[in-house]
Amino acid sequence: MSKNKTLSAAKSAKNDEFYTQYADIQKEINAYLDYDPDVFRGKTVLLPCDDPEWSNFTLFFAQNFERLGLKKLVSTSYAPESKTAKYGALFEYAAMMNGEKPKNERGRIFVLDHDVNKNGRIDFEDLEWEYLKGDGDFRSEEVSRLRDEADVIVTNPPFSMFREFLAWILATTDAKKFLVIGNMNAITYKEVFPLIKDNRMWLGATGFVTDMVFRVPKGAEVAPADRAKAAKLGYVGDYTRLGNSCWFTNLDHGRRHQPLRLMTMAQNVKHSKHKEVRDAEYRNYDNYDAIEVPFTDAIPSDYDGVMGVPISFLDKYCPEQFEIVGITKTWFGAANKTYPEQIEVSKNGERKRVSKLNDGATLKLVEEPQGETYYLVDGTPYAQLYARILIRRRK
Ligand SMILES: C[S@@+](CC[C@H](N)C(=O)[O-])C[C@H]1O[C@@H](n2cnc3c(N)ncnc32)[C@H](O)[C@@H]1O
Repeated sequence: MSKNKTLSAAKSAKNDEFYTQYADIQKEINAYLDYDPDVFRGKTVLLPCDDPEWSNFTLFFAQNFERLGLKKLVSTSYAPESKTAKYGALFEYAAMMNGEKPKNERGRIFVLDHDVNKNGRIDFEDLEWEYLKGDGDFRSEEVSRLRDEADVIVTNPPFSMFREFLAWILATTDAKKFLVIGNMNAITYKEVFPLIKDNRMWLGATGFVTDMVFRVPKGAEVAPADRAKAAKLGYVGDYTRLGNSCWFTNLDHGRRHQPLRLMTMAQNVKHSKHKEVRDAEYRNYDNYDAIEVPFTDAIPSDYDGVMGVPISFLDKYCPEQFEIVGITKTWFGAANKTYPEQIEVSKNGERKRVSKLNDGATLKLVEEPQGETYYLVDGTPYAQLYARILIRRRK
């Protein structure tokens, strides 16, 4: 492996050891309960890729077993020896085995389905555990069997394996419910976006703008700014904050059925708080049959054609109000034009030949902008936009 590849593999392995906070799980689950108090009643919930000694998922679901009306809770963990990022004692199994040496090459399974200690309630204290046959890899036959038996799958899977994990869930039927944490960039993946477009998956109830804090292993590298942000939210020490993580689910919640209140196109041009919209025109892309809407709150309420909106629109997406028709990515294939010869002019004026403009929506510019990256095609300047979701108003 090249040095660069080794570094990036190590980086993503480290990113796999992010532990979700109880408050974030509670807030998210409460939103589903508000919408349907029986959403988990009589259900078997599987928490794969968990580390029950450290995971708040297991703690939350076990503590709320009766309130949620669960039939069974199953949680599995990955063997310490299989984890690519190995840290100190904090993240190793405690010797819980009556003096026996822990089998660090094996994963574990925790099950909760009855009042083991006969104290009149079913909770965390009643969890029973044993070793799995293998290391607890979610792709293994034994964990896949648990997936097949479960009604709902909930976890924060290893970030580096998000696509694979989603495919693993969806290898079963759509009747299987799931709630998983991922990175918002996953929305533009070709394995992920079609699910969102077809309303087979959507964003969870906690908004994008809400920072999520994760516990990290002792000694893990955390950017000082993220550590400071986590501390500001009350998590001091081995915590990081990830501004771009979000929940993906096919469980319904109320927020996604609240339509956006929007102004008409004329009202936006007159009153929008955004200078890019006020006293301006909604422009057509050069390579997509759609208009550019740079902000979700500037979506015109009276436009019937296709509109390109930022990815963050999904946070406000109400399927009764809008239809998602595509995304401005080459793999989606909706562009009506490509640019064979492009010159990228960087902020500092450097020029190089690229092919980037072919992936994304472009706007033709009237003049070459100053201090911004732009592209020249046959001498005409273009701006390339971030990935846009293409939507149309439902009537
Ligand atoms: C992002 S952490 C989240 C842990 C826990 N679910 C939580 O949210 O607090 C992902 C976990 O998956 C484990 N993991 C990594 N690769 C795995 C695999 N192939 N199968 C199962 N678990 C894996 C990691 O070691 C880590 O404990």
